Amino acid sequence: GAGSSWAPSTVLVTGGAGFIGSHTCVELLDHGYEVIVIDNYSNSTPQVFARVERIAGRFVGAVYELDIRDRRALSAVFDRHSVDAVVHLAAHKSVSESAAMPVEYYDTNVGGTTALLRTMHEHGVHRMVYSSSCSIYGDADPGPIAETAPARPTNPYAASKWLCEQILADVCDRRPEYTVLCLRYFNPAGAHPSGLLGEDPRGTPDNLMPYVAQVAVGRRERLHVFGDDYPTPDGTAIRDYLHVLDTVEAHRLALDHVADAPGMHVYNLGLGKGSSVLEVVAAFSEACGRSIPYEVAPRRPGDVAELVADATPVARAWSWRPMRDLSDMCRDAWHFQQLNPHGYGDSARRPNSKH
Ligand code: WQD
Repeated sequence: GAGSSWAPSTVLVTGGAGFIGSHTCVELLDHGYEVIVIDNYSNSTPQVFARVERIAGRFVGAVYELDIRDRRALSAVFDRHSVDAVVHLAAHKSVSESAAMPVEYYDTNVGGTTALLRTMHEHGVHRMVYSSSCSIYGDADPGPIAETAPARPTNPYAASKWLCEQILADVCDRRPEYTVLCLRYFNPAGAHPSGLLGEDPRGTPDNLMPYVAQVAVGRRERLHVFGDDYPTPDGTAIRDYLHVLDTVEAHRLALDHVADAPGMHVYNLGLGKGSSVLEVVAAFSEACGRSIPYEVAPRRPGDVAELVADATPVARAWSWRPMRDLSDMCRDAWHFQQLNPHGYGDSARRPNSKH
């Protein structure tokens, strides 16, 4: 990238079969990186890689099925490949599930990160792009949120992400050879415009856009709008939705810049524009030409009224400019949903519960 004289050639993507991970693989393959993936398919399927490779016209270097907490298996991967940097995406990510199984969330998200850090350390790998979350801000003051805003996690998922950030900051403080680029995503949504890659959660989707897409395609009867009594213009909660392609472009730019300056650098990733639940419903309805039936349901525990990014620091640092808006996200999510009404194709064999 501009200004950097060194770029990693081999990147290990943890959670590389997931929604962000699969699109990250395409983006990195498209930009000449060698890509190694680990995933345990707890919320994904290896079927995604044929699609990744079809889009990129290149092969993923290697794929390993393993649990991020399994240090012996992790170590074997680092023994086999000369990894220059790690994009660490592997984690559980459901807010509601985290309230029901907090220990599992801390174990996988925090224990997975420390297992990875120990393995990286043993193998002399000191560069990481870390997947964090806007949810760490919790009940923030209204208006765009800067990275300097205090962390106030309101659920175990968010708390686990914040704990990992603190661990990574400590590592960078004490070991000058480390660089961690921590990306706090707001709400990634949409799909690859080819219709080959998208969000394919197991069981009932927790996230808004895949749920709406399944209503549109007739897999679910109606959306439950979680709360219409928030202090927002239409009473429904506001989020900052960001196209997955813009999201993964930021990861690639992070890798291009990973040698610029050591230490921990934290960036929000969002459009900087909020949309309410009802605005998402309207935009999706417009994109698919169907009405989206919904009913208002109680607020979801741990949800907050508004989360919108101030994403100017990342724009300034890497000249990152999100290029796609909510209508693009809805169009691409709908395209994926239409071409893959049952996701990547093994839905029939999946249990309807997550664990
Ligand atoms: C968006 C809005 C819901 C479903 C979390 C994480 C974040 C990121 C995305 C990993 C909220 C409402 C939702 C539904 C609804 N990480 N909603 N009916 O909670 O903002 O963010 O997931 O995935 O780090 O914090 O995303 O898509 O679940 O919800 O009304 O069936 O849609 O209440 O206002 P969230 P979401």
